[in-house]
Amino acid sequence: MLLGREKAFYNTYMENSTRWWQNAIGYIIYPESFKDSNGDGIGDLKGIESKLDYLHDLGINLIWLGPIFASPMDDNGYDVSDYYKINPLYGTMEDFDSLMNKAHSLGIRIILDLTLNHTSDEHPWFQMAIKDENSKERGYYYFRKGKRENGKLLPPNNWKGFFASSAWENVEGTDEFYLHIFSKKMPDTNWSNPLLREEYFTISSFWLDKGADGFRLDALAHLSKDLSFSDSSNPADNNGLVLDTSKFSNRPELYDYLKEYEQRVLKGRDVCTIGEVGGGISPTDSLKLSSYENGSISMVFNFDTVWNNGAFGSISKRDDEIKTDVISLKSNFMKWYNTCHDKADMPLYWCNHDHPRVLSQYGSVQFRNESAKMLLTTLLFLYGTPFIYNGDEIGMSNVNYDSIDDFRGDKATIDEVKEERSLGFDDATILHYLCRNSRVNARTPMQWDKSKNAGFSEGNPKFKANLNFNDGVNVYDEMRDPWSILNFYEYAIGIRKGSIISQAINEGSLEILDYNHPDVFAYLHSGQHKYCVISSFRPYTTYFTFLYEIGDVLLHNYDGVIIKDHVFTLRPFESFLLRLR
Ligand code: NOJ
Ligand code: CA
Repeated sequence: MLLGREKAFYNTYMENSTRWWQNAIGYIIYPESFKDSNGDGIGDLKGIESKLDYLHDLGINLIWLGPIFASPMDDNGYDVSDYYKINPLYGTMEDFDSLMNKAHSLGIRIILDLTLNHTSDEHPWFQMAIKDENSKERGYYYFRKGKRENGKLLPPNNWKGFFASSAWENVEGTDEFYLHIFSKKMPDTNWSNPLLREEYFTISSFWLDKGADGFRLDALAHLSKDLSFSDSSNPADNNGLVLDTSKFSNRPELYDYLKEYEQRVLKGRDVCTIGEVGGGISPTDSLKLSSYENGSISMVFNFDTVWNNGAFGSISKRDDEIKTDVISLKSNFMKWYNTCHDKADMPLYWCNHDHPRVLSQYGSVQFRNESAKMLLTTLLFLYGTPFIYNGDEIGMSNVNYDSIDDFRGDKATIDEVKEERSLGFDDATILHYLCRNSRVNARTPMQWDKSKNAGFSEGNPKFKANLNFNDGVNVYDEMRDPWSILNFYEYAIGIRKGSIISQAINEGSLEILDYNHPDVFAYLHSGQHKYCVISSFRPYTTYFTFLYEIGDVLLHNYDGVIIKDHVFTLRPFESFLLRLR
């Protein structure tokens, strides 16, 4: 949608900017489910390459590519067994080079997903650590003696990991345990050990030398641990375990490790690094990681705007108890904006491969078209670098599987099922909950067309495609429908890249209009040029008082604006981008 002068300005703005990511349009690719090129049921690099033109046409110029290094795939690639090798399931180093070359020729940068916090237990470091207690690799991980109580061997402390079990695993035939805050096949690496850090400096430099444009740094918040390994005093679960993230998240040494990482790896390189820091960090603390003044990385992903509908852990809730808390959403976005906007860059996103689909969370399957467009409009014009999760651009939604078995293939979900069964929930309740909450919802095959497996693969994919690909929720059909979600995305992204609006977003001041409105998310960028977004988050009619003078309606998901005596009547999920006079 960018034409002539605008396009030229945009490209120069991007290229001349020392922080090019500030004006990029990001896209998150989950490699396993994006596009399979050889019919083995698994997405791959060649498949991704074949879709770069599509992404380019959409207006994408920055890709966060999910993990692609060699891995036994216990956690879908976040369990790396060789950081110097492409996962053979995804292709070869030649495929990687070819993907990067093509992306760069289209002006698309790619950042790689790099896991520094843990390796696979099949990584040679860990194999050596288990084999030889005196090896240097033993010091790359955390091994501790268990406790003996009444003759029973117990883990060294009461820490629970993220995968619903103890964070410790016994080394068979010994009293020793190793720490794993994710799956037991993902032992945590010991960042307090300089030799381990050195390994990761070399790995990171290797990929940047090969042309990667940076990294999404997985689980970054957890690099430092409470090395006293003392029990958590927080309330324990039925098994006496406590998920106390303060024991292994955002601890002071993290900032030192990253300073060193910056010096040793990033300095002098024009790359973008985004650290996953989760929900446990305050915006003020995040500045220590990513501020212009003394941060080490470019941006951080926080989780504060995810799950603002009460769905997290909602197994006991009825569907009608799940409702977007629009006031909380506004305040979470603004909390980060207010602290960071003139001090650090920020990414913007609704969800990624770890969450259910945003359309099913904050939007509505019943109002798919309207709500998908509303969600994009709301996100795209906030302050920050937007990241679109693959499939959101065609309105993909949560699955409607009829068996818990369909969720197999995601370790975290399987572990969760075990825990829920042990708490006494029946399978029907668990199934209903997974269709609402599991991250598998975001990992189903990308829906390209109406052919087998939604055009994702000719083989048998791990997760069944969402059957709504037959009802027009696919790229092929949406390309041909002028009112589709996909065409709206392309148009809206074109507007977002405009020089005047980019400047208004980056340099103007952002304020929320009618903060306490429970149904509407409205904001205004003021400065020399004024832009305003008004979005209803409800499947019913709402009203919104608006005292400004409207110049143009730049984006709208309905025909005709209904406004009388300064009050908008907003239809279900109605949303505008307005230029004000
Ligand atoms: C965050 C990743 O996004 C998630 O998918 C993974 O399970 C954990 N980190 C562990 O690496
Ligand atoms: Ca394949």
